[in-house]
Amino acid sequence: GYDVAGLLNKTGNVMIDPGFVNTASCTSQITYIDGEKGILRYRGYPIEQLAEQSTFLETAYLVLYGELPNKAQLEGFEERIRRTTLIDERMRDLFRCFPRRSHPMPVLAAGIMALSTFSQKSSGTDPDQIEAATTRLIAKVPTLAAFGYKNSMGQPTLYPDNSLSYVQNFIRMSFGFPTEPYEFNDEITRALETLLILHVDHEQNCSTSTVRMVASSGANMYAAVAAGVNALSGPKHGGANQAVLEMLQYIRDSDMTTKEFVRRVKDKQSDIKLMGFGHRIYKNYDPRAAIIKKHADRIMELHTGREDLLEIAKELEETALSDDYFRERKLYPNVDFYTGLIYEAMGFPMNMFTVLFALGRLPGWIAQYREQAATGGNKIWRPRQIFTGADLRDYVPLDQRA
Ligand code: ACO
Repeated sequence: GYDVAGLLNKTGNVMIDPGFVNTASCTSQITYIDGEKGILRYRGYPIEQLAEQSTFLETAYLVLYGELPNKAQLEGFEERIRRTTLIDERMRDLFRCFPRRSHPMPVLAAGIMALSTFSQKSSGTDPDQIEAATTRLIAKVPTLAAFGYKNSMGQPTLYPDNSLSYVQNFIRMSFGFPTEPYEFNDEITRALETLLILHVDHEQNCSTSTVRMVASSGANMYAAVAAGVNALSGPKHGGANQAVLEMLQYIRDSDMTTKEFVRRVKDKQSDIKLMGFGHRIYKNYDPRAAIIKKHADRIMELHTGREDLLEIAKELEETALSDDYFRERKLYPNVDFYTGLIYEAMGFPMNMFTVLFALGRLPGWIAQYREQAATGGNKIWRPRQIFTGADLRDYVPLDQRA
């Protein structure tokens, strides 16, 4: 009912672009995406090559510093991270304050903010402080994530073991027990490493834009990354991996056929979506989903009893891909469609799935924060709006209101 064109004229050249579908917020040299062709590159390197050949920390270095490290640079980076994994003893008390079954995502966000209070100069945005925060966050977030998980399970926490790789360390802190040696399954370790690499960055998605928005105010990296974690938690974003598994379980438990479920999605009456399908940028396929699907079958073999859900997922994919509704709207499986199944097969409960996404996305958030701080100038991000509320009116005292 509003005269939007008139409002636009009144406010001059302000453009409205709900959801920022056509508005670029910045220039960036970190990640390149071609959504039509299904291309994703970090600093020019194809995601397929990195997923196959790199490690998570090496990819983190690439995204953060712009180039693949040489041997000495990589060893130096790994050593810096390894030496920083421990968190202050008082932080353990923080985790004890949360209810036993608290969701590990808000616990992770709270842990990251608490971390900033243990940093002498956490408010600094000078290059040394940014470098220190980069190391502390990459090193300590897996420890925080694992502590949050152990807390949600009511189990004792484990200190990091610095003889292990980054990914092994996280796996042991999540599944190990203090008094028992932990036996790694190499296939699971590599699959988790690959999944983390696939999540490292994805240009100006919702959580990354949130990180940049907070960075633009001059707030420190901890504040920006915690905000990123919170933005990621929503089911339209990182929370989709949990929502996919819930959807698969719902279909199985309600004895509904996948065709019937897809029909209901298309009806749009109950506002249910096919979770794990669709993407703002990818309109042909999500290259990360293609890599993940290759891992899904192999990892699922390690964890029997969930074949029913994998079967439902495959049927859903097949039904949707041959349906005009999804074809016309260019809706394909995204990164989240199969990750939940894989994480579950690895032994993670559903409420940890988005935490794993956050762990992967962390270097990307930090790289984008650094780029914003270095090249964004002093310009605070401050979008405009088109006001559609009430016209001028006089205040009515309480006793005279209807
Ligand atoms: N199931 C059914 N219909 C869908 C779906 C879906 N998953 N996704 C989009 N559509 C429909 C919309 O209803 C709309 O239909 P209409 O033209 O008849 O109105 C059309 O496709 C276009 O969709 P938009 O919502 O405009 O697309 P947008 O780019 O804004 O949203 C998003 C992208 C949020 C990812 C959406 O596809 C979605 O909600 N998917 C399910 C959640 C999900 O998997 N999120 C993870 C995304 S990837 C990530 O964050 C890592």
